[in-house]
Amino acid sequence: MEILHVSAECYPVAKVGGLGDVVGALPKYQYELGTIAKVVVPAYRNKYYDTHEFDVVHQAGMWLGHDWYHFNVLKERSNELGFDLYLVDIPGLLDTPNVYGYPNDTERFLAFQIAVLDWVNEWNHQPDVIHCHDHHTGLIPFLMSYGYKYERMKEIPSVLTIHNAQYQGQFGWDKLYLIPSFDLWKSGLLDWSGAINPLAAGIKCAWRVTTVSPGYLEELYHNANGLEWLISHERAKTVGIINGIDNTVWDPATDTMVQINYDMDTVAEGKLENKKALCERFGLDSSLPLVSFIGRLVGDKGADLLPEIISRSLHELPGEVNFLVLGSGDPHVEWSLQQTRHEVSYGFNLHIGYNESLAHLIYAGSDFLLMPSRVEPCGLNQLYALRYGTVPMVRSTGGLKDTVTDFGDPDGFGIRFNQAGIWDACYSVKRAIELFNDTSHLEEIRLRGMRLNNSWGRSAQRYLEVYSSMKS
Ligand code: GLC
Repeated sequence: MEILHVSAECYPVAKVGGLGDVVGALPKYQYELGTIAKVVVPAYRNKYYDTHEFDVVHQAGMWLGHDWYHFNVLKERSNELGFDLYLVDIPGLLDTPNVYGYPNDTERFLAFQIAVLDWVNEWNHQPDVIHCHDHHTGLIPFLMSYGYKYERMKEIPSVLTIHNAQYQGQFGWDKLYLIPSFDLWKSGLLDWSGAINPLAAGIKCAWRVTTVSPGYLEELYHNANGLEWLISHERAKTVGIINGIDNTVWDPATDTMVQINYDMDTVAEGKLENKKALCERFGLDSSLPLVSFIGRLVGDKGADLLPEIISRSLHELPGEVNFLVLGSGDPHVEWSLQQTRHEVSYGFNLHIGYNESLAHLIYAGSDFLLMPSRVEPCGLNQLYALRYGTVPMVRSTGGLKDTVTDFGDPDGFGIRFNQAGIWDACYSVKRAIELFNDTSHLEEIRLRGMRLNNSWGRSAQRYLEVYSSMKS
């Protein structure tokens, strides 16, 4: 069976968040199960593009509304990723340094989808399944079924994975002319609440819809940023499959981005050495428990709560805990974190930006990883933390609820709290400090986390079951 994953991100080619990690790892594990999985993403002008070699495998042109664009499909020459990688190069639209954040993102991703469809439609080697990820690829299932040009693709089953339903990619009907001609009787499939909604169209038209955890799927029936009715209506074709992690990239015993490698036998010393390196770099005290946050500084992740959680904890428990934050996002959150650092003067530091190797060192050197998310479809950071012997402190929601058991419960290995609020989070910080001060208990909890197997194996198998269920 051959699968083509279509996505805006794929680690290490282009990554902004967890979507990139998933699309960079799942195909490798699918290969191990005997499936041929290929990935196509845009050819952004980033470091990966500059440092790798590609062959042009398809050249064509396309209309995007009234504008004509030339595009190339490139294939990576080496097979170092463990799967075939294709890049869609559209000069003038996708040749940007960043993945998102441009005023013409609607046009950019529409063009990407059209180019992928045009290419696959012509391909004499069509995949057995097209697997789309998030709203940037949500119009593909619609166009495969009803686009006049894509007749040859009608019978190919499509899957849409929702990594985050908060983002739906809506745009106005005034841009309808950008979409290649299709059966106009089907226009309603594009619509949700008076706008063209790619995520909604994908949910309506894909043969199967998956979410990145079963817990998140349950939540979406009641709370899906306006799509709850639609998701409930399409319930019969939905499946929640928990994400896994790439155990080869995330392994404290072999990770080249940490200060010192360690495994289950050396976890206490190993983590301490990494913590010392981290604390030296950030002016923190390595004898205190270190609570870190890694991620996008946005409301969904509860990042706006961090300044108050940190200042209140440092005020109530002076000299008992340290905090470290890595991330970027909402300028207001960034600003208030910087303010907090000036105000508290000790016990807290931050790095604004995204830095993959620093993230690895933080997983290795921290004692606790705080995730006060309001919405968390799966969350991968808690899984990375567990692998590195770092105790996750998570709000009970979505995938966090599915993957973390409180250490107060039988066989538990994490800290859970119910509300994405200051009080619950600060109480968890207190519990973390108590656990830290009980060295043997901490060691036992760390080892429980490290022993878990959250790799992709089982979930990759579940995707195969979804693909097989669509065979006619
Ligand atoms: C999104 C979600 C996150 C999930 C990731 C990968 O970034 O917010 O919870 O883990 O996608 O599926």
